[in-house]
Parts: sequence; structure tokens; C-alpha cells
Amino acid sequence: MTASGSPSSPLRGCRVVVTAGGTREAIDPVRYLGNRSSGKMGNALVTACREAGAEVELITAAPPPPPAAGVSVVEVEAAAEMRTAVWAALERADVLLMAAAVADYRPRVVADRKLKKTAAGISLVLVPTVDILESVRAHPRRGRVLVVGFAAETDDLLANAAEKLRRKGLDLIVLNDVGAPGVGMGADDNAVTVLDPGGVVLTVDRSPKLEVARRLVALVGERLGRGPRA
Ligand code: CTP
Repeated sequence: MTASGSPSSPLRGCRVVVTAGGTREAIDPVRYLGNRSSGKMGNALVTACREAGAEVELITAAPPPPPAAGVSVVEVEAAAEMRTAVWAALERADVLLMAAAVADYRPRVVADRKLKKTAAGISLVLVPTVDILESVRAHPRRGRVLVVGFAAETDDLLANAAEKLRRKGLDLIVLNDVGAPGVGMGADDNAVTVLDPGGVVLTVDRSPKLEVARRLVALVGERLGRGPRA
């Protein structure tokens, strides 16, 4: 790949915020609710954005990648922290790639001491977390940021993704069939379909996550008016 600043650096001068990993919602000081997201897709997006010449801020709930020039990393744990970090990063961003698997629920009460084992079992009351992408609709710089969501689906794939795109007011949504073998959460490969409000704009067959990320970044470059077709 070419270095930043060459003619094929479609995101040169752009600032991209990438979120990655699965948020962890505390139950007590030693336990949390989590999900199977590995952060690999987010890290691949960081690499592809750097190849395209962008400055990247990675907001991650997964173990961070090794330090790299042009990449700043903010480590977070819970959805609420990720929301605060995303809002701050949008003050200086051109693109948001929201690849994180944000928990939908958190325990209503976080115990301040380790919960003890009881013969009777326990019940956790879960309440919704903040929907970060929905909240971004109200960000003062929303109109100046290309916002890309990711939809992890197992059924009614296109209909569910289109509904999320509308509900969250996104510019693009990257649909990922997490029920298909060999792709999705934790896997090294991915296969995606990308929609905008008009319908499907890109499909990428099963490929390594870095290849998928490069195709997505090329599309982002086009949408910013910086790609090969601009
Ligand atoms: N997302 C978010 N905040 C949340 C949940 C999800 O910003 N609390 C973002 C994800 O990062 C992703 C997109 O919304 O870019 C879609 O996430 P997904 O889990 O597929 O959708 P949900 O809105 O959580 O809906 P559901 O779990 O019912 O499919």
C-alpha cells in the first residue's frame, strides 16, 4: 500500500474515529456482561484508514493494537464511557466508523463488593445502555461527519439493517451476517453488504477483515468526494 500523501491516499487530511470491541458492563468489581466481539474488524479499519492517509482515533473496548504513527487510542470499558469518548472525538472528526459491539443492556445496580455465591441463585435486573449512534444524531457537528454504523444480524438481514440505518440516521450501514460460518464476530474473515438510504451500494464476499476494511474505506473516500470516482 502507498504511504500517506501519495495520489492514492483518498483520506489524506481526514480525521476518522473508529470504535472497536465489545463493551463490558460491570456487575461487581470482578464481573461484567460482555459479548464475543474481538475488535479485529475495528483494528482492520484502523489499518485501512492509515493506508488511505487518514489520522485515526481508535476508541476501543478490546485490547488495543500495537502503537502506530497517526493513531491515537482511547481505551474504554462500558457503553457510557464509549459514548463520552465518541462525542469528544466528533469535535474534530470527518468520519465515524462505529464497528464496536456496544452492549444493549447493563445491570441496573453495580455491586460495590464481589457478589457472594448463594444456593438460591440471583437475578440481575438489566436496563438499556445509551444507544451511541442514536445519540450522535444530536451532536452539534453531526452534519459535518460521515456516520457509518455496523449491523450484526442473524435473520431478516437487509430489512433489519435498513431499519437501523433509518432509526439511527446513518449515512451508511455495514451489514454483517454473524450467523454465517467463518465470518463475523471473532473470525478472521468477514463478508458484508453496505446500504445507504437508497439501498445496497456495495457487497464484499468472504475475505480477510483487512480486505473488507480496504473496500469500506474506499467507499468512504468516494462518499467524501475523494475517491477514484470523485
Ligand atoms: N450501537 C450503538 N449503541 C448501542 C448499540 C449499538 O451505537 N447501545 C451501534 C453499533 O456500534 C453498531 C450499530 O449501532 O454500529 C448497530 O448495532 P447492533 O448491535 O447491530 O444493533 P442494535 O441497535 O443494538 O439492535 P439489535 O441488538 O436489536 O439488533
